[in-house]
Amino acid sequence: MPSLVVIGSQWGDEGKGKIVDYLAEEAQMVVRFQGGNNAGHTVKVGEEVFALHLVPSGILRPGKKAIIGNGVVIDPGVLLGELDGLESRGVSVKNLRISDRANVIMPYHRMLDGAEERMRKGAKVGTTGRGIGPVYADKIARLGVRMGELIDEDKFPEKLEFLVPLKQLILDAYGDPTRLDLEAIKSEYGSYGRRLRQYVTDTGALVNDALAKNRRVLFEGAQGTLLDIDHGTYPFVTSSTTVAGNAASGSGVSPLLLDDVYGVVKAYTTRVGEGPFPTELKDELGKTIAEKGGEFGTTTGRARRCGWLDLVVTKYAHSLSGFTGIALTKIDVLGGFEELKICTHYTLGGRKVSRVPADLRQLELCEPRYTVLDGWDEPDGAGMKRILAKGYPALPPEMKAYIKLIERQMGVPVVLVGLGKRRNEILDLRKKKWKRR
Ligand code: GDP
Ligand code: IMO
Ligand code: MG
Repeated sequence: MPSLVVIGSQWGDEGKGKIVDYLAEEAQMVVRFQGGNNAGHTVKVGEEVFALHLVPSGILRPGKKAIIGNGVVIDPGVLLGELDGLESRGVSVKNLRISDRANVIMPYHRMLDGAEERMRKGAKVGTTGRGIGPVYADKIARLGVRMGELIDEDKFPEKLEFLVPLKQLILDAYGDPTRLDLEAIKSEYGSYGRRLRQYVTDTGALVNDALAKNRRVLFEGAQGTLLDIDHGTYPFVTSSTTVAGNAASGSGVSPLLLDDVYGVVKAYTTRVGEGPFPTELKDELGKTIAEKGGEFGTTTGRARRCGWLDLVVTKYAHSLSGFTGIALTKIDVLGGFEELKICTHYTLGGRKVSRVPADLRQLELCEPRYTVLDGWDEPDGAGMKRILAKGYPALPPEMKAYIKLIERQMGVPVVLVGLGKRRNEILDLRKKKWKRR
């Protein structure tokens, strides 16, 4: 029963989409298990760029089963737009299946997301505005609408009769001028339900079945560990559980069926939205990295804040998810700098801090301590070709030293090295590809 979970080890946008797309070639099924269309996973295939928000990146590999699991929250209009967009570009979506237990993002969730952000005044989270917090809040409060209900033409309108007036009361109390139109929502979402019905099923059964048949199943995480609702830099986090354990719960399989966990580590750190970021570079260097790395959000187009690699963050992520391998991405972006820094620990009042504290006031006071490494020259086209052909031995020695420091500090082998946006711009250092039971 070989299975592999791929999750973000920082604040999201580590390059999970590209890594999943690469690994999906070897898998039979790819499963998203949490988050919603706050995610933006970019995959470059040849000269074509795909930005996926809800559909698992495995959809770009013909014949693979693509599953949206029970832990995902689905904006049905956005999902249909994404499916139409993929089909118009020749990507078949016939292998997609959607969990009947996944919760639906309703229009009032998006409105409440905006209203709550406005009310936070100075303490904005900087959400993507997609309704993620409010839909997960409703799920936990047992006020959610599930996909199985959306496609039920009797139950869905009945449920809205109670939910829409309730949400109107809350919007009114927030001073939001929006009037929710019950009949219009019934009709719009009813039509989404009719279009999506063909994909909706008990996906947990499908994933269990695939694993029982020894098929290779890839679990595609969204967001990153420091955005996790429990373990992240709360309240500047997303509203789902982003650590590896949720791959089981969010797709309906036993945790004993998760074999391997790859933590995607971007060679430097980025963050979108508000919240503390100890190794942030607020100077020209930060801007240079942002430009070289194309660090602009896939979902909202916002500029991502950039900083040095923070191993306190990635070690913390490893302690939560148990990485069996690191997929190191975007190391190519660091070419051409005289020197590079990696944060190995923080200090606070003369004390060494090796774990991300829960209290953000403490985290803000932490001073990152760096190991300084020599940079390497950016390889030209021919140099990159040589590296991709010859593999690890052809890497500049300074890049090898950078990789070694990460491995040593984290105690986890680097198994994939991302050297560019394209599918083939990756070094595969895996000794054994997939575990077998
Ligand atoms: P995700 O949300 O974790 O899937 O990451 P995003 O897609 O939001 O952001 C990662 C960006 O980096 C995308 O534009 C990718 O095409 C790009 N990318 C991924 N891996 C690499 C890499 O190894 N090198 C370079 N230069 N770009 C990469
Ligand atoms: P991927 O999967 C980076 C951030 C938002 C905001 C916070 C809460 O592409 O890595 P939300 O809309 O989820 O309530 O916003 O979380 N955020 C992400 N940042 N990558 C993501 O996803 C993110 N999804 C949410 O910017 O700070
Ligand atoms: Mg992203």
